[in-house]
Amino acid sequence: MGLGKACMLGEYLHAYTTILHRQASLRYVYVDAFSGPGAHRVRHPESKWSSLLDVALYPLEDREHAEYIRGSPRIALELQFPFTQYVFVETNAARALALEKLTTQYPDLKIAIRKRDCNEYLRDTLVPRSWKQWRGLVFLDPFGMQVPWTTIELLAKTKAIEVFINFPVGMAIQRLLRRDARFSNEQRARIDLYLGSPNWFDVVYQKGTGLFGETVDKAADSNIALTRWYRKRLKGLFGFASSARLVRSSSNHPLYYLIHAGPNATGAKIAEHILRQGEVV
Ligand SMILES: C[S@@+](CC[C@H](N)C(=O)[O-])C[C@H]1O[C@@H](n2cnc3c(N)ncnc32)[C@H](O)[C@@H]1O
Repeated sequence: MGLGKACMLGEYLHAYTTILHRQASLRYVYVDAFSGPGAHRVRHPESKWSSLLDVALYPLEDREHAEYIRGSPRIALELQFPFTQYVFVETNAARALALEKLTTQYPDLKIAIRKRDCNEYLRDTLVPRSWKQWRGLVFLDPFGMQVPWTTIELLAKTKAIEVFINFPVGMAIQRLLRRDARFSNEQRARIDLYLGSPNWFDVVYQKGTGLFGETVDKAADSNIALTRWYRKRLKGLFGFASSARLVRSSSNHPLYYLIHAGPNATGAKIAEHILRQGEVV
């Protein structure tokens, strides 16, 4: 089994900040667009602290609190070379409050909590700021299809932002992509908005001829085909996009793919190295 999501993110953030903190003229912001509460109850204690990185990075008393694992905000806050600034976006009030509490533990770090829709935050606040002396890493980790393609386009246009994207192909998307290819206009529009193009239809469905005329069937490997297509589109926007790393549930069901995209060759190389150590397409 490969590294969990948290460890992959942690490894990348460590590499990213190690490089950037040597560049005196640059500042760098971490934006967790779907923060969650910062810590989660553990369902599978045996998978915890499995990584040597965890043992090296976190004090024993932290690791002994067996019922919690670190969510992405904590991973980012506990880096050896912290970001210049942190923004945690979360719509849920209780989780936003948990994040406020969490941040009191890091009085030396510059942290902002934004209780609002992250797409609005990214579009109206993050993207328009001046990026001349700034770099950014945005983690897009939704439960479903909450990140429309237009948001990703805006981030890419800054040429200063890298993203880690959860592409929920095993969950939200597959549920919408019906076997019989019958969609209402509304359903199609929703998928178009998310994927940024109507061409997904020809990626997922194959036309054939049956006993009663033309047939349309979902391709056997539609998950993989759609992920490759999405990844290629990310590459077109950002310049670089990593292989897509499959993350499975504890019962081995495909949950989502994790993909890194950005404008920087070094970042892309490091992300690829980390994500490749598992099942990729
Ligand atoms: C999968 S969880 C995030 C987990 C977190 N990244 C981690 O690794 O610990 C998704 C979170 O996004 C929040 N959320 C859902 N829609 C949102 C939106 N439009 N903007 C910001 N947060 C949202 C949910 O309340 C939930 O806490």
